[in-house]
Amino acid sequence: MYTQWAEETMEKILAKLEKTAPAIGARFPHATKGGEFDNRIPSWWTNGFWPGILWMAYQETGKEEYKKIAESVEEQMDVVLDEYDLVDHDAGFIWLLSAGANYKLTKNEKSRIRLMKAACFLMSRFNLKGRFIRAWNGDDRLTQGLAIIDCSMNLPLLYWASNTDGDGRFRYIAEAHAETVVKRFIREDGSVNHMVVFDPETGEFEKVLGGQGAAPDSAWSRGASWALYGMALAYRHLKDEKYLQACRKVADFFIESLPEDYVAHWDFRVERTPETPRDTSAAACAACGLLELADSLGGEDGAYYKEKAYLILKSLTENYSNFDNDKDQAILFGGTGNKPREVDVNVGLIYGDYYYMEGVSRLKGKKDIYWYSV
Ligand code: GLY
Repeated sequence: MYTQWAEETMEKILAKLEKTAPAIGARFPHATKGGEFDNRIPSWWTNGFWPGILWMAYQETGKEEYKKIAESVEEQMDVVLDEYDLVDHDAGFIWLLSAGANYKLTKNEKSRIRLMKAACFLMSRFNLKGRFIRAWNGDDRLTQGLAIIDCSMNLPLLYWASNTDGDGRFRYIAEAHAETVVKRFIREDGSVNHMVVFDPETGEFEKVLGGQGAAPDSAWSRGASWALYGMALAYRHLKDEKYLQACRKVADFFIESLPEDYVAHWDFRVERTPETPRDTSAAACAACGLLELADSLGGEDGAYYKEKAYLILKSLTENYSNFDNDKDQAILFGGTGNKPREVDVNVGLIYGDYYYMEGVSRLKGKKDIYWYSV
């Protein structure tokens, strides 16, 4: 049942991309305004998602134009690796989905080198005392001691580097950061902190910040989805039960916090009215994490999480997609970028589209998607 649904849905995605890919072109789309994607600077954290979508479309159709656009975006980002100062914790989001996909499909040597450089930069952000990979750049004390849940999704770049290079040191650092995620980010009830501040000198825990959530103790849904999928991937690569348990805890919290239509509100702990924004990107990313968790568990438990992922993807398709709206370039609407700052609320988000396509692809039975099968 799932496979047939996913095959039909993938056809809709591909039909949409056939129209939007030439219009978006070799640029850096992030969020839509009036139905059109914007164009960000080469170092923007979301710049891997458009190539990631195009490589999936190329894998599905073999159409050269998708490959060409993805290659051009990847090449345009070399300036970021060359200039170093603009690289931050999001190196995994950026290069694993662009260069990583390219290398996996074409064995392009330049892509391999880009990935190794990005992995070295990411690894070098590790704070040995606090056992975390620091977020962002800046010489102030707060930034030096700051770690964020989003970084869970950048760890696969380090697993990739260890698997490819044969040198475990990348993985050891990923593992140390993943342990810190379990200890300091995932709360007892399965909700998740967005930002945690450590003393950059001693590594001592200092405090939690609200970040993109409504408050320090609220439950930002995309943060939960980063943790859910990130922990599922940590289990895949590190094979330590504690990541599977952490993933299940977040997954159960995420599922029980969902509204009737299975698409998360932007924060699970804000008042829910018909106007409260959803975040379709959190929903799509969580669906991928649930499918990864389902694969790891198998059996009845696996079937339970797979069904929930299907229900999320089905609702996104039926209630939040632009398949019948040629005026909007995004596949999904209803994404929320940063609600506390009122930036990109109820828009299309390129990462929402990426995880939605990956989720449908997974449900179709594809196992060799770049993000996690490194
Ligand atoms: N990584 C930033 C965000 O999730 O919005």
